[in-house]
Amino acid sequence: MSESHPKKWDFFIGTQKMKNILVIASHPNIEHSYANKIILSNLELSSLNVEICHIDKLYPTYDINIEAEQSKLIKADVVVLQFPFYWYSVPAALKSWIDKVLSYGFAYGSAGDKLKGKHIIPSITVGGPEESYSATGYNHFSIKELLRPLEQTAYLTQMIWNEPVYTHGCIYIPNVYNTQEEVESRAKNHANRLIEKLESLS
Ligand SMILES: Cc1cc2nc3c(=O)[nH]c(=O)nc-3n(C[C@H](O)[C@H](O)[C@H](O)COP(=O)(O)O)c2cc1C
Repeated sequence: MSESHPKKWDFFIGTQKMKNILVIASHPNIEHSYANKIILSNLELSSLNVEICHIDKLYPTYDINIEAEQSKLIKADVVVLQFPFYWYSVPAALKSWIDKVLSYGFAYGSAGDKLKGKHIIPSITVGGPEESYSATGYNHFSIKELLRPLEQTAYLTQMIWNEPVYTHGCIYIPNVYNTQEEVESRAKNHANRLIEKLESLS
């Protein structure tokens, strides 16, 4: 039986190999983050087999080590993209990472199948409230609609697209948007949902 079809008794005697989870975390200023910082520290404390890469810290000028990033991806079974929603998309460092790392011959093209069959899960903190992300709200589109380019990137690279884990109302500006307690509690709840999702894949 192949490795991808675990034997029934593996589950009973605990020999089932845990999935390698690679978290690509992008935040230009994680020290001043409320939400992403909490989600990442909860992931770190979980019993999951996670490797967290802070790409903004690793590559402050976006001079990305493509080979190093591609070898991390090759080892991973599940890739989590952890980021704050910036202008309805990913932060600049993550866009640069995607542009450079998901290259022709690696992620797409006739021989570019290195990501085939790996899970991808976007995990996003969103500033705006839920009702704003609807046809009648000031953001007009749902989060899922706005994430279509990322979803299609997963399909082109033959990855398994998982519904995003996202949380509204994550912005904290004292006396303007939310309270710190509200944002921290939303972030903890987000982390729990993400960990539950990752456990179901592991
Ligand atoms: C440059 C910038 C762009 C942003 N764009 C959006 C946006 O398009 N939609 C939204 O709902 N919130 C937006 N926000 C709010 C962030 O998503 C929010 O502050 C972040 O998720 C909070 O996470 P943190 O505490 O980890 O920084 C933006 C914030 C910044 C600084």
